[in-house]
Amino acid sequence: MKIVIIVAHDPNLVIGKDGTLPWHYSEDLKFFKKVTMGSPILMGRVVFEELNEKPLPGRENVILSRSKEYEHVKTFDSIDRALDYLKTHEQIFVIGGGEIYKQLIDQTDELIVTEIKKEHKGDTYLVDYRKDIGTIWREVWRDEHEDFSFIRYQRIRESG
Ligand SMILES: NC(=O)c1ccc[n+]([C@@H]2O[C@H](COP(=O)([O-])OP(=O)(O)OC[C@H]3O[C@@H](n4cnc5c(N)ncnc54)[C@H](OP(=O)(O)O)[C@@H]3O)[C@@H](O)[C@H]2O)c1
Repeated sequence: MKIVIIVAHDPNLVIGKDGTLPWHYSEDLKFFKKVTMGSPILMGRVVFEELNEKPLPGRENVILSRSKEYEHVKTFDSIDRALDYLKTHEQIFVIGGGEIYKQLIDQTDELIVTEIKKEHKGDTYLVDYRKDIGTIWREVWRDEHEDFSFIRYQRIRESG
């Protein structure tokens, strides 16, 4: 199973403010939908509440929470249990938020990043993966836009 983090961050690695996104770029939301459609998505309870507890369609939604158990979506109280449940899938997307990215980045195979060019105020940050570009992460694809860049990084694996 390939684990892929998909995330949007500003130049200071801000990803969230007051439980929601600090920006609105419809092109980024469309990109997110296109990339994740058909694959399971794994998210923290705060992100699920941001979605008003409505699962995103066309994707199996899996929630991490130690305090809640939803009737309409699979909920796990540990990452290991959630990953075990998802293990038969070819790939899964980790869609946040900050706590979940932090706990899963070391097991992640690929990062799909929207780098927002403008600075935003926020209270939730992405774990600093940029210090590891060139050692752990290799940029394999980039698509430049006026307000943001879409970038794909793959984990560098020793061969031989
Ligand atoms: N820019 C982006 O791409 C992006 C993407 C996603 C989210 N965000 C932003 O990020 C912010 C939310 O992030 P966050 O860090 O506050 O919250 P979060 O990661 O969405 O959720 C945290 C919650 O997940 C549960 N949890 C965490 N680790 C767990 C584990 N090991 N096992 C079981 N449950 C676990 C806990 O729920 P309980 O308290 O119920 O136990 C915890 O309170 C929002 O502002 C959102 O808009 C941004």
